Amino acid sequence: MMCSSVIFRALLINLLVGCVSSFLVHDAGLTLDVKLDLTHQVSSTDDRFLGVTLDSTLILYGHISRMDISSPLLKTLTQALSPAYLRVGGTKGDALTFNPSITGNRNTEFGADIWDKLNNFAHLAKWDMIWDFDYASLYKNYHWDPSNAKTMLQYSQDHGYKLPCFQLGNEPNLFYYFYHVWVTPQTLARDYQNFKTDVHSFPQYRDACILGPELTDISDPNHKKYITEFLQAGGGKALDGLTIHHYYECSNTFPISLGWFMDLRNFEAFENQLNIATQVVKQYAPGLPLWLSETSTVIITCPGEPNLRTTYANGFLYLDKLGMSARYGLKHVIRHQFFSQLVNSTYDFTPFTDYFVTLLYKRLVQGPVFKVLTSTPTVRMYAHCANPDSYQKGAIVVYAINIESADATLSFSQFHGQQFHLYLLTPGDQDGLTSKYIALNDQKLEMNGNQLPAMNPKVVHGANTVTLRGRSYGFVVLPDANVDVCKH
Ligand SMILES: *[C@@H]1O[C@H](CO)[C@@H](O)[C@H](O)[C@H]1NC(C)=O
Repeated sequence: MMCSSVIFRALLINLLVGCVSSFLVHDAGLTLDVKLDLTHQVSSTDDRFLGVTLDSTLILYGHISRMDISSPLLKTLTQALSPAYLRVGGTKGDALTFNPSITGNRNTEFGADIWDKLNNFAHLAKWDMIWDFDYASLYKNYHWDPSNAKTMLQYSQDHGYKLPCFQLGNEPNLFYYFYHVWVTPQTLARDYQNFKTDVHSFPQYRDACILGPELTDISDPNHKKYITEFLQAGGGKALDGLTIHHYYECSNTFPISLGWFMDLRNFEAFENQLNIATQVVKQYAPGLPLWLSETSTVIITCPGEPNLRTTYANGFLYLDKLGMSARYGLKHVIRHQFFSQLVNSTYDFTPFTDYFVTLLYKRLVQGPVFKVLTSTPTVRMYAHCANPDSYQKGAIVVYAINIESADATLSFSQFHGQQFHLYLLTPGDQDGLTSKYIALNDQKLEMNGNQLPAMNPKVVHGANTVTLRGRSYGFVVLPDANVDVCKH
């Protein structure tokens, strides 16, 4: 309901009871008692739940060859997110082949030096690299030619590269759009089965996991049909994880603006995708772990202001995506992409706001996931056991996203009188929601040279409530919650 205070003052209160109450609620903000169902976990996440990607363009355009992987700053930033998967892939990865006899890049080929450097980078970061092989440019006569992949696997084995998982092709449902190649889901399923045999024939990769089929936007009926037919054709038998991609929708009629990042349609659309994905798995590949293997918020080609994705505003959808994914039982979420969205670029490693959100998430959240009974569409809440690396067993963490402009008051009657460790995140400077910086408990987060800033909680005793400012997000840890499910 639209109610301005001017109208409110100009009219008689008793004629406007509905208007008055909505005005007052808005003014005072929402008060919510955070009620958790702690009797059982709805799902669970491990220490690699959240990972990052590196886009194939960085290889294709030579950024990797120019990157200083010995930078102490880069080492600090990457190792702080370890353990994590690093998935390397993207649209250009389907026109990117390995040629061990060249140095650097030549057209769509890359040399062994680049591959060595990438492996070295993952090693220094202490990340586990997932490589997505080129499919589209090697598809001829109704099948995929594995010879380039075998050359690469042989080379990698000879060099002792630890590569835990492999994939085949990126977004095959869009191959026609980008490469004028149409691959049926049945063909892809058969090629995935052969691919698995090929990978496992290398002793070094005998147990490597196979992930696919890397479809995007499965709420599109055609894409849903594709993944369904892929699984019906036996594609799932080749897989250790079913991987999908997700970006929020944008169009000329729904362009990127500040409001877009807090638009309920986006939050709902993502939940819809997870509903579809989990249903498809349940029906056609029961028990197969589901991954979001490449995901972010905005694609840079979106109309409007896609660059807002590296500002504080992006955190609303990002944090919600993590919470929602965990609650739906997804095993891994791989954020696209480390360079350009979490840190500035391959030559300037300044961390952006989402870097710190990622880091805090990894430090605080891990293990069993609980249902929050009092979450609302505009004050969205998720609850997990706190990461046992940071807190004693039994502790829990609630993270909340307030997209209302008014403050929200969260009370925790279930944990009456307990201390809180607050990690409240707000814009880092006067640019507000479009700030390039983020503050933790009102302290702007910036590197101290090559060192991460201190990211300590604000410890509060006996307050019973937490105020989450309007249009902000944050984490609340209850170190003394003593929850049984979190003690195992
Ligand atoms: C990102 O790097 C570019 C190039 O070095 C620089 O001009 C820009 O200021 C950097 N952005 C931030 C937020 O540090």
